[in-house]
Amino acid sequence: MSAQRVLVRNDAALSAEEVLHTGRVAERLAAEIVDAGGWISFERYMEIALYAPGLGYYSAGAHKLGRGGDFATAPEISRLFGACMAQQCADLLRDLGRGSILEIGAGSGRLAADMLSRLETLGRLPTRYLILEVSADLRERQRRTLTQRLPQLQERIEWLDAPPRANFDGVIVANEVLDALPVSRFRWHSTRCEELGVALEQGKFAWAPRPANARTATVCQALAAAGGGWQGGYVSEYCPRLAAWATHVTRSLGNGAVLWIDYGLPRAQYYFPQRHGGTLLCHFRQRARDDPFLYPGLQDITAWVDFTALAEACMGAGYQLAGFTTQAHFLAGLGIDHAMQALAGSDENQFARLAVEARRLMLPGEMGERFKAMAWSRGIDAPLRGFEIKDLRHTL
Ligand SMILES: C[S@@+](CC[C@H](N)C(=O)[O-])C[C@H]1O[C@@H](n2cnc3c(N)ncnc32)[C@H](O)[C@@H]1O
Repeated sequence: MSAQRVLVRNDAALSAEEVLHTGRVAERLAAEIVDAGGWISFERYMEIALYAPGLGYYSAGAHKLGRGGDFATAPEISRLFGACMAQQCADLLRDLGRGSILEIGAGSGRLAADMLSRLETLGRLPTRYLILEVSADLRERQRRTLTQRLPQLQERIEWLDAPPRANFDGVIVANEVLDALPVSRFRWHSTRCEELGVALEQGKFAWAPRPANARTATVCQALAAAGGGWQGGYVSEYCPRLAAWATHVTRSLGNGAVLWIDYGLPRAQYYFPQRHGGTLLCHFRQRARDDPFLYPGLQDITAWVDFTALAEACMGAGYQLAGFTTQAHFLAGLGIDHAMQALAGSDENQFARLAVEARRLMLPGEMGERFKAMAWSRGIDAPLRGFEIKDLRHTL
């Protein structure tokens, strides 16, 4: 691959190490563009920026979650999230008799620790707690968190590089993982559709349109129809690999359920004419930006999840669609108020702190509505408690 110089901005007071790292990632991306004849798809750009071995945001050692990181997820905000997830898992493990939990993308390990500690209290520990994680750096962090908080449960916890070979019964959980899957970006005109890829312009990455291939054009046509018709110049994205990836990582589940939580919408709402810039969002040091070409390898790049596409994947993978609702209704259904009582005990100050955290997880202007929960199930008849208050499956 040819060496390429790319201009790297440094208006965020990057450390010398960060400048070097983002410079290396930019060079790798630029070389890929040159080798491909001057243009790569945005899906490929995002894949390298997030996952290139030793370079990508998730494969190299950037500091990502929690205080001092780039963004805060629900388990980083409050133990209440893990306590509610544990309640749903406890119900399922009870109905199954016994089973394991597989967590995909475990971040700092807080969700695993919160869930396991609540499940221990409820007397419903899983046989094994498996973690499928791409980031070596985060694996280490998860190991530290779990060893520190739950030394007595170490033998049940296991890290995996790929989905388990052998089938298992139980629960698969994935919070804020689907939003990192690389997406294809497009621009729609009344008579044609363009794919927005990435090229180099005067030593910088720039959006570069190309006529979309037949597959992308057909997909866009369907998305435009679902959204209610678009004006010329409508820009958005979709995730071509969503169904294949979701099917792949859940393939070993025998009987049980998969719980997906992420920000996203049913397709008809995702592709509303008014949402004409798409949902691509980048996070760096607790600030959200819309420029994916800034600090490649140092900032997270995400897009919302098309939950209708995830529901279609569910059918394709032989599961039943067991539930779809907002995060607020999911947590309410799982008794977040009881979890507050249980975690605070008689400590009023602790209760007040948890109430503030619960508001962040539940209010519509915070995470309550933007985030959705979806459940796939197999071999389970009983309704899932997290989806009993508000069933939004008809919106998919
Ligand atoms: C935004 S963080 C969420 C972490 C955690 N679930 C939470 O809620 O705090 C995304 C996590 O998914 C992992 N991840 C990203 N892409 C992945 C993939 N393709 N397979 C497995 N894990 C992945 C990341 O390394 C990270 O641990």
